[in-house]
Amino acid sequence: MTIEIDVLTLFPGMLAGPLDESIPGRAVARGLVTLRVHDLRAWGIGRHRSVDDAPYGGGAGMVLRPEPVGDALDALRRPGTTVLLMDPAGEPFRQATARELAGLEHLVLVCPRYEGVDERVRSLVDREISIGDYVLSGGELAAMVVIDAVIRLVPGVIEEASTIEESHAAGLLEYPQYTRPAVYRGMGVPSILTSGDHGAVARWRHAEAVRRTLHRRPDLLAGRELTADERRVIEEERDARRSEGDLA
Ligand code: ADE
Repeated sequence: MTIEIDVLTLFPGMLAGPLDESIPGRAVARGLVTLRVHDLRAWGIGRHRSVDDAPYGGGAGMVLRPEPVGDALDALRRPGTTVLLMDPAGEPFRQATARELAGLEHLVLVCPRYEGVDERVRSLVDREISIGDYVLSGGELAAMVVIDAVIRLVPGVIEEASTIEESHAAGLLEYPQYTRPAVYRGMGVPSILTSGDHGAVARWRHAEAVRRTLHRRPDLLAGRELTADERRVIEEERDARRSEGDLA
C-alpha cells in the first residue's frame, strides 16, 4: 500500500529539507510514499500572482483569498482525495488521526500564511487540523508534523513492532527503555529486563506504561477503558502515594 501526499504552500522550500531526510526521505526513495510540494502562487491571481488581500471590515494583516486554493484543489482533487487545512482552530491532531490518515490513498495539505484564510476556503476542504494550542506563523510546520506522523505508519516504512508499542499507540505513554551500559553514573537497569523471562518483562513494561501515564498524563487514562490489570496498577500507585503522604 502506498500513499500520495500533495502540499500547497507559499514556501515550498520550507518542506524540502526535513522531508528529504531520515524516515520520510527513505519512504519516498523506496516508493512507499509519493510527495509533491506545490507553490500556491502558481494559482495566484493576475500578473503578480496575488494570493492574499486585506480583510473586509478592516483589521491587521492579510487574508488568503479563496480562488487560488479553490483552483489548486480543482487541479489536485480526484475520487479518494482527502483535503486537510492546517489551522489552529482545527480538530486536535492525535495519534489516532495519524492512523486514520495513513490508511487513505491521497492527502492534500493546504498551508495558509498571513492572518488566516477567507472563511469560504473552509467549504473547500474535508478536515481542518490543528497540531496544538499555539499559533505558528504558517501551516508548513504543522503540515510537516502531520506528514511525518502519517508516513511512519504507512505499512513497510518502519518495523511495525515499533509503532505498536510506542507512546500513544494504545492510549498510554511508552514504558522506559534501557540499553548498555548496565550501570551509568550510578544508575542501574531494572533486573527484570535481564532476567530472560519474557512474560515478566511484558507485564512489567505494561505496568510501567500505565504508571508513567498516570503520573504524566492522567487525562489520557480518563478517556480509556481500563483492563483489570491496568486498574490494579493504578490502585497500587494510589495506595503507594497515600502512604507516602502519610509519611510526609
Ligand atoms: N497554523 C498556525 N498554527 C497552527 C497550528 N497550531 N496547527 C495547525 N496549523 C497552524
